[in-house]
Amino acid sequence: MGKIAMLTGGGDCPGLNAVISAATRTLEDAGIDAIGLLDGWKGAIEGLTMDVNRQNTAHIIRQGGTILGTSRTNPYKTEGAVDKIKVSFKKLKLDGLIAIGGEDTLGVATRLYQEEKLPVIGVPKTIDNDLSATDFTFGFDTAVNIAMEAVERIHTTAASHHRVIVVEVMGRHAGWIAAYSGIAGDADVTLVPEMEIDIDAVCETLKKNRKAGKKYNIVVASEGAMFKAGDFVTQEQELDSFGHVRLGGLGDALARMIEKRTDYETRSVILGHIQRGGAPTAFDRILGTRFGVKAAQMVMAGDWGKMAALKSNEIVAVPLADATGELKLLNDDFKSLVTLFSK
Ligand code: F6P
Repeated sequence: MGKIAMLTGGGDCPGLNAVISAATRTLEDAGIDAIGLLDGWKGAIEGLTMDVNRQNTAHIIRQGGTILGTSRTNPYKTEGAVDKIKVSFKKLKLDGLIAIGGEDTLGVATRLYQEEKLPVIGVPKTIDNDLSATDFTFGFDTAVNIAMEAVERIHTTAASHHRVIVVEVMGRHAGWIAAYSGIAGDADVTLVPEMEIDIDAVCETLKKNRKAGKKYNIVVASEGAMFKAGDFVTQEQELDSFGHVRLGGLGDALARMIEKRTDYETRSVILGHIQRGGAPTAFDRILGTRFGVKAAQMVMAGDWGKMAALKSNEIVAVPLADATGELKLLNDDFKSLVTLFSK
C-alpha cells in the first residue's frame, strides 16, 4: 500500500480537519503517503491535489471548515466525469480514497465502489446528523451548540420587547438541529420537518404561555418544516446537482402568520451558515479524530466500500450503502419530546 487520497465534499462542517489530521498521522505511521484532493469530487475529476503530511496537518484539529476545500460537484451529473476520476486514480497512483462527506458525497462514493470497483472508504460528516448507520455525524454537536447559544441570546431581547421571535435553523429535511436546539434552548414551540406545522396549535401554545405569565415567546423552526407534505419554503426554485431544493425563509413566513393570528409583535432570524462556521466543539474534534484513525485502519485492512461509524460509543466499519440508502429522520422518541415541549 503506497498512496491514499482524501477529499471533503458537500457542505463544510466543523470537525473535517480533525479527520484529515488523524487519518494522515495514522497512515504516515504505517508508512503510507496521504494526499488531499481539492474541493470535493471536483478535485478527483480534475486531479487537483495538495500535499498532506504530519507537519501541515499537525494543528488543524482546532480549525473549522476544511483545509482541502469542498464543493457540491456531482460526477454523475457531468458526462465523462466518472471516467476522469478513474484516470486521476491511475495518474496519481492511488491505492485508495477516503471520502469525507454526507449523503451526497457518500452516495457518489457508494456508486464508485459498487459500479466502478474503486477502493473507497467513507467518513460521515454533516451538521444535519441525517446519515443512517451512525449514531452521530461530526459537525452536528457544534451546530447544535451554536444554535442553542443563539436561542439563549434571543431570550433576552425577546423578553425585553415582549416579542415572539422565530429562530430558523438548518438541518434540511431532518429535524435534529431544531429538536436539540429548541428543547435545550427552552423554546415555547419547536417545529421539525417530520411533523406538519399546525399554525393554530402553535399560536394556542404561545397564548397559553402568555396567560401563564410569560411575556415573550420563542419558536425554533427547522428550515425544512412544512405546512403540508412536500410544501417547503425555498429560496429559489432551482435544484442543486444532487437534486436538493435550497431551503430558507420559513421563519419569516411563520413570523408573519403568528403576528397576524396573535397580535403579538413578532420577528424572525435565520441562523444560516453561522451554524456551520467556526471552531468545532470538543465532541466533534474527538469524533472526527476517531473517525480519521478508523478510516486509516480500514485502509490498512482493505475494508473498501465501508464507512467509519459511531455505534454505542464504539467506532465500527459499516457498509457504505447502509449509510446512504435512507435518511435518518427524528424517531418516535424525539417526535414525542418535541411535542411534549411544544404544547
Ligand atoms: O447539509 C448541510 C446544510 O447546511 C443544510 O443544513 C442546509 O440546508 C444546506 O447545507 C445549505 O447549503 P449551502 O451551503 O449550499 O447553502
